[in-house]
Amino acid sequence: MRNGERLYNAAGCHSCHLPGPDAAGIDGALPAGGAPLKTPVGTFYPPNLTPDPETGLGNWTDLEFVNAMQRGIGKSGRHLMPAFPYTSYAHMKREDVIDIRAYLASLPPVKNATRPQEVPLQPVVRRGIGLWKLIGFDSAITQPDAGQTDSWNLGRSLVDGPGHCNECHTPRTAFMTSDMSRYLAGGPHPEGDGKVPSLRGLIERGRYKDANDIKLALQNGELLGYDKLSSGGMGKVQTNMSKLPDADVAAIAEYLASLK
Ligand code: HEC
Ligand code: HEC
Repeated sequence: MRNGERLYNAAGCHSCHLPGPDAAGIDGALPAGGAPLKTPVGTFYPPNLTPDPETGLGNWTDLEFVNAMQRGIGKSGRHLMPAFPYTSYAHMKREDVIDIRAYLASLPPVKNATRPQEVPLQPVVRRGIGLWKLIGFDSAITQPDAGQTDSWNLGRSLVDGPGHCNECHTPRTAFMTSDMSRYLAGGPHPEGDGKVPSLRGLIERGRYKDANDIKLALQNGELLGYDKLSSGGMGKVQTNMSKLPDADVAAIAEYLASLK
């Protein structure tokens, strides 16, 4: 599997950019956009990521793609809403982001104009995001920790970057930024429905036997009887994990197992 496809799966692009129910004749496996994504600020219709020049990313430059993925700036220069988890993708290496772009460019182009976002007061909110980025946007690329194994470092970079696990598993401050003092400690679901469990002390709390048990859970979920991996958006994440190379899931599990 090429790096771009691997990271596209780790990042769950298709989970949000899938075609909507009204997109007749479009292959549901393509990220042609349009399926409604409900969030506390309104309903989004994530756009078409196939290389169609008119309605997709066909005439985007690599730089425009990187600006969207890592700075939350759209092609027209507007601020993008963090419902698109660029706050996590910002931690990825630039080469990896370009690899995702190359993978997207290799998909068949599909014409599919998506509906405008249904976000009340959109222009005001978008300007607010510009200010919010100044206080809350940590865009540092994840640096390896020399005291840890290569696989631990790989796991951390997948969790904090493409995997965007923080977006749900780390609670937010009053400014809606991730509260890193409670890193991956769980809390209210950001989409407003129920709670997200903590990913700290998974072994100490007896949820899993060891790192390999966490790995099997991420790869198989309910199929092997692991509960707590199916609702609140986690089901899609688990499906994405099942598509990753074995070594990537092992690395994520090793990293999670180390969080006390
Ligand atoms: C959790 C849902 C979610 C995930 C996962 C996600 N996106 Fe998005 N994406 C969105 C939403 C919502 C928008 C629209 C944001 C806005 O209008 O402010 C968006 C916008 C974009 C844009 C900007 C398009 C434009 O016209 O300005 C690009 C490019 C993009 N996403 C690419 C990706 C890629 C590539 C991935 C995977 C690496 C990805 N997205 C993963 C929800 C998501
Ligand atoms: C869209 C929000 C969301 C994202 C993103 C997300 N999770 Fe989750 N996660 C949840 C929810 C909600 C649950 C609880 C699901 C349930 O009880 O059915 C959960 C449960 C889990 C569990 C089980 C915890 C336990 O106590 O057994 C693990 C492990 C986990 N997530 C790992 C991850 C990893 C690794 C990532 C990033 C690759 C991630 N999650 C990204 C929402 C999310």
